Amino acid sequence: MCEKCKGSYYITTPIYYPSAKLHIGHTYCTVATDAMARFKRLQGYDVLFLTGTDEHGQKIEDKAKEAGVTPQEYVDNIVLGQGGVLDLWKLMNISNDRFIRTTDDYHVAAIQKIFKKMYDNGDIYKGTYKGKYCKPCESFWTESQLVDGKCPDCGRDCVDAEEEAYFFKLSKYADRVQDLLENTDFLEPRSRVHEMVNNFIKPGLEDLCVSRTSFNWGVPVDFDPGHVVYVWIDALFNYMTALGFENDKHDDLAKYWPANVHFVGKEIVRFHSIIWPAMLMSLNLPLPKKVYGHGWLLLDGGKMSKSKGNVVDPYILAQRFGVDALRFFLMRSFPFGSDGNFSNELLISTINTDLANDLGNLVSRTVAMAQKYFGEKLPAEQLADEEKDAELVAMVSSLRNIYEEQMEHYAFQNALAEIFKVISRANKYIDENAPWVLAKSEENKPRLARVLYNLLETVRICAGLLTPFMPETAEEISKRLGGAAMDWESLNVYGLLPAEAAPVAGPALFPRIDMEKELAALEELSKPPMPEIEIEPYSQEQVDFDTFCKSDFRAVKVKDCQPVKKSDKLLQFTLDDGTGTDRQILSGIAKYYKPEELIGKTLVAITNLPPRKMMGRESCGMLISAVHTEKGEEKLHLLMVDDAIPAGAKLC
Ligand code: MSP
Repeated sequence: MCEKCKGSYYITTPIYYPSAKLHIGHTYCTVATDAMARFKRLQGYDVLFLTGTDEHGQKIEDKAKEAGVTPQEYVDNIVLGQGGVLDLWKLMNISNDRFIRTTDDYHVAAIQKIFKKMYDNGDIYKGTYKGKYCKPCESFWTESQLVDGKCPDCGRDCVDAEEEAYFFKLSKYADRVQDLLENTDFLEPRSRVHEMVNNFIKPGLEDLCVSRTSFNWGVPVDFDPGHVVYVWIDALFNYMTALGFENDKHDDLAKYWPANVHFVGKEIVRFHSIIWPAMLMSLNLPLPKKVYGHGWLLLDGGKMSKSKGNVVDPYILAQRFGVDALRFFLMRSFPFGSDGNFSNELLISTINTDLANDLGNLVSRTVAMAQKYFGEKLPAEQLADEEKDAELVAMVSSLRNIYEEQMEHYAFQNALAEIFKVISRANKYIDENAPWVLAKSEENKPRLARVLYNLLETVRICAGLLTPFMPETAEEISKRLGGAAMDWESLNVYGLLPAEAAPVAGPALFPRIDMEKELAALEELSKPPMPEIEIEPYSQEQVDFDTFCKSDFRAVKVKDCQPVKKSDKLLQFTLDDGTGTDRQILSGIAKYYKPEELIGKTLVAITNLPPRKMMGRESCGMLISAVHTEKGEEKLHLLMVDDAIPAGAKLC
């Protein structure tokens, strides 16, 4: 370990199911983990941040079948393909040190060994599984666990399941797990402990079915062909196989295990705080130090899903608002341990208030004033005013420690709120000290220099502490302050910026967003794409042949065609229908044709409809057109036939 390092720190996110593209809810957890990992690196820890993908299970097998590809091709495409999981984490500036896929050979072989070990030690045994299974959640349930007969996690129907299967003796570990949950701070926030103990442990923890025979896409149980390992066992052990447990691919188990924290969403706390420690107990392995069950981002108070459209597409949001702004919004707007309601309004107003108005303005005003009043750099001669400076300086000086306390408790929202309290205070300090007034007299220049110095120093410390959330913005601000120090120690020392600081101006860090325009643009983007060509649904009603034959379709030649006064729809046709008497038909197609381009054409008309009046003129029949919709717009084409067909020829 390097001398300066504070020690190792291992943090993980759940590994994602590549069953569909990820939405902003998935991004939330990974951004939070990234912020924590970056914070720990900033503090000086030797961090290992793991994420990855959970690629086995029936759902993936079914989806691949639907798509007509192999399960491996299916997951490869969603994980590695354009706009896939890896691309998204790159875009979001996720600093994971390792990425595990549960289809990686080393992981598969390790899972087989782990399963066999638990079988050999008697904690896995063979039996018959009878119960309920929720396919989308890949979860087995007992009848009593269902809520109104449905899956307690997702509320969907469960199917009856009965098959020969292996079981893990989860019941054997019930007391130890309960003790772990109730008497240690293994699981946080505390509210999740009550939920786990009351809903799952107290009603009686049953042994867990840990193999399936009804599908193939999983890790095969090597000593019993036909069985594949339950996807959650396969998935949970990723946290250890990624460090080299039961494999030679990696070699840092001793350094990083037990994990410092697993960040997980609230619906998978059960797997992480009951099943996971029980399996580790079975293998006599050290338990992770903490599982933190964060809340969900909700959309209109309900579950988020990709089907809700582009509003929740992290690609689109990052593209429109910038990666740092999106990362910041996720961590600033919702308390990590509870649910939060995502909305575009909240996203835009957070960016406008905190980033454009407060932070962005502070940086640009301060730098602009320093340059305007002093040119390249501040003068060394500066005059402090104890009374006027004390509050701001005290707030900035204690900020790092206050922030640290919040970050250690995963209270990202509070940590950011502390930074923004200081930023607001600094904006107020500008108004109180009115640098533009001080600038008017030469005598006040030393005081003016000190005011600007205090502001620059505030910016340095605030921006440095924002690094875990907005790494690129922090770097940019450091550059604008002339390469200011933002390492952990420097962030706790007020006055480190050289007195003759030389700030550099730049474009607005966060331009203000026009709420109304942006909401309209997002609304437009969230509409499902218009189908290219849409045709009328076919009629289900049958017409008997004799009725059909009653319709008299004839070829007609256009002798004249005129617009109809006061109508922007109608054209008036004078037609040769072969009878020797002109026929007049009015047709609502003025939007599609200019009258002169139709003269001389041979069209098709139905001629035995009763005459009717349109705009006071008589129409004897109807011209036949083909209609369809293209990208949402109605299109019409008059049916035109070969000019060699004589006027009046019957169409049958
Ligand atoms: N594959 C499992 C995890 C196995 S870990 C050993 C899984 N994958 S998932 O893709 O369905 O979900 C990954 C994470 O995203 C979960 O922690 C889940 O809670 C989180 N989120 C999914 N939708 C979310 C929101 N709307 N809001 C916040 N987090 C959400 O579960």
